[in-house]
Amino acid sequence: RTNLVHITDIEKDAAVLREAGRIIRCGGLVVFPTETVYGIGANGLDADACRSIYTAKGRPSDNPLILTVPDKQSVLQAAAVITATAQKLMDRFWPGPLTIIFPRQKTVPDAATGGLDTVALRCPDHAVARAFLQYAGVPVAGPSANLSTRPSPTTAAEVLHDMDGRVDMILDGGPCHIGVESTIVECNNDDTVTILRPGGVTVDMLQEVVGHVRIDTSLVTGKGVPKAPGMKYRHYAPAAPMMAVVGTVSAVTDKLQELYAAAVGEGKTVGFLVSREVGLHFPQENMYIWGSHNDKAALASQLYTGLLFFDSDPVDLILAEGTDDSGLGMAIMNRMKKAAGGQVILL
Ligand code: TXA
Ligand code: MG
Repeated sequence: RTNLVHITDIEKDAAVLREAGRIIRCGGLVVFPTETVYGIGANGLDADACRSIYTAKGRPSDNPLILTVPDKQSVLQAAAVITATAQKLMDRFWPGPLTIIFPRQKTVPDAATGGLDTVALRCPDHAVARAFLQYAGVPVAGPSANLSTRPSPTTAAEVLHDMDGRVDMILDGGPCHIGVESTIVECNNDDTVTILRPGGVTVDMLQEVVGHVRIDTSLVTGKGVPKAPGMKYRHYAPAAPMMAVVGTVSAVTDKLQELYAAAVGEGKTVGFLVSREVGLHFPQENMYIWGSHNDKAALASQLYTGLLFFDSDPVDLILAEGTDDSGLGMAIMNRMKKAAGGQVILL
């Protein structure tokens, strides 16, 4: 039922992309690649189409969807107002991994926003996505194309695993470059923004454009109700329990050796999700190397594939190596903490 199509060239594959746009306007579901993760698209102005996304993902319907647009001009199809701060952010970061919360237009159904009076909008930096969105001609609701609670897919094969038979078409645009979802920000009235979900656009990057960057306190403390409703759900969970360790190569290696010995002593099989430098010191079976120790971009792009690796090659415990919180590290560790159920050891 699901048609998987590899897109090699926007021009050559125009007929397929046009068909994908038609499916959206007819109320169907099309999975499309973005620079962050794959998204599952439906007509964001059609309540029934939005509802079918929740069914396909098995997602709670109070968790609002991000609407995806091909360019800045299309924002007013869904947003009621563009504030000066929002305009600055769009000018600097779009197309790119930044989602901005706007007051919504009445035409955006409750089924898309979970009944909120705001709408989350983003313009992805991916040629296939933008061509597809242009053909669709409507804002496309586009949450990550995973089953609810599973890691977000960054390859078409991972999409197919979760979504085969649940969507009409999958556009395969190759592996996603960034690998973690977009940063979500809310604009305040005083030239500041609040980060509701850390992502590909970092605090430092935002700081260059706005007066001050706040962080939703529930993200930092783990307490209270997060402003992005989706952040409260269990997420990115691999099948096995996981522990993550952060520090220098030698400190991480020592700590993992201790944890490994204890687990083996209990008769457990252990998987490793670590840097090349740390991986050297452990048995090579059940090992997923995400890249070299200081390469946060590599860790971001490999994290979800690494978590999924241990679903197809099951172990009793995953020992992972994380990174510090600066730059892209904030987004990475936000996901890793959830995958590890909070079990992160800072050395
Ligand atoms: O990178 C991304 O943003 C990916 C790609 C596919 O575009 N999409 C994505 O969508 O991560 P999703 O649905 O998996 O996550 C959307 C997040 C949820 O945490 C949701 O609660 C929050 O955005 N959200 C959506 N609308 C909101 C709103 N009006 N106010 C606050 N949070 C909102
Ligand atoms: Mg998601």
